[in-house]
Amino acid sequence: MKALILSGGTGSRLRPFTHSTAKQLLPVANKPVLVHCLENIRDAGVTEAALVVGAHAAEISGVVGDGSAFGLDLTYLHQDRPLGLAHCVQLAGDFLGDDDFVMYLADNVLADGIGKAARVFAAERADALLLVQPVADPRAYGVVEVGAGGHVRRLVEKPAEPAGDLAALGVYFFTSRIHEAVAGLRPSARGELEITDAIQRLVEDGAPVRAERYDGYWKDTGRAEDLLDCNRELLARLTGPAVHGEVDGTSTLSGPVVIEPGARVHGSHLKGPLVIAAGSTVTNCTVGPYVSVGRDCVLRDTVVADSILLEGAAVDGVPGLDHSIIGRWARIGRSAASGHQLLVGDHANAEVAA
Ligand code: DAU
Repeated sequence: MKALILSGGTGSRLRPFTHSTAKQLLPVANKPVLVHCLENIRDAGVTEAALVVGAHAAEISGVVGDGSAFGLDLTYLHQDRPLGLAHCVQLAGDFLGDDDFVMYLADNVLADGIGKAARVFAAERADALLLVQPVADPRAYGVVEVGAGGHVRRLVEKPAEPAGDLAALGVYFFTSRIHEAVAGLRPSARGELEITDAIQRLVEDGAPVRAERYDGYWKDTGRAEDLLDCNRELLARLTGPAVHGEVDGTSTLSGPVVIEPGARVHGSHLKGPLVIAAGSTVTNCTVGPYVSVGRDCVLRDTVVADSILLEGAAVDGVPGLDHSIIGRWARIGRSAASGHQLLVGDHANAEVAA
């Protein structure tokens, strides 16, 4: 089986971060979402994968390279514009040939892997196997109507009036029969070639299409709150403390605290679960729980919980930072003036205590 990994698109709901980076490179528990995805694909036994990339191609290849660091042989496919998930299958036609493949949307995190689903697909030999999970608001997803024995009856992309609450996750298993279904598709109302329409065609043609309930943790990290939720979940899975950096005698640590080599902590209280990456310094702070501090961050005189700090972020003198994502090399400091002084980038979102 091969893999087709979709890492193009615009990521407009994650601006301002996606002005300068791909949404699939945003980190949860200090690891890019795309890397979580590559590891799942490798762990399912796949070695050959194509990676669809768009405007942020250079940055993505800078992080994942030829895939060998993840045990994968990666072929890059450039998509000029995000014309839809089924367009990506068309682009990958030569690469995929007649092989079975798993199509993986690289902004999806499946924290319990895809190994079980891959085994179900291999055993059942349906032309499409979808993973599904009930969601609170199905209108944001492909909605799957499932009959007896997991047989898919109907599939609708982001319906205004969903017929049920089962959402399609961003991982699909296909035989080569999907290529007939994506050929000649017409763009949907939102102007994309929809994979849900292609799968619906398979259903109408009488091809076996099945749904399998994913019973692990899944999140489409399309919005900031989803990234934070995912960060909490992955940090909650940390087992013991792993302190490889420098921690002075006046600091206290509780819970699973991971401090990478080269990180320095002074006069601070660290409440796990949390991770602090190499090159970061934390001075006179209370950090955690559920905080991921990326590389080369500087935290001083600050209290921070439930947050993600990207590489190089600096926070100084902020007593209550919560539920926040701070971008690369961004700085938050205290002001001598009585009001707030903000320099907030395009499409950013800042909420200050009244
Ligand atoms: O997360 C599950 C949902 O993913 C499914 O329930 C929906 O049926 C499916 O259409 C998809 O919906 P999204 O609106 O979340 O898809 P999004 O546009 O965010 O794209 C998913 C991934 O594919 C993302 O990593 C970007 C990439 N992509 C997207 C498009 C449209 C491409 O590489 N090229 C594209 O043309």
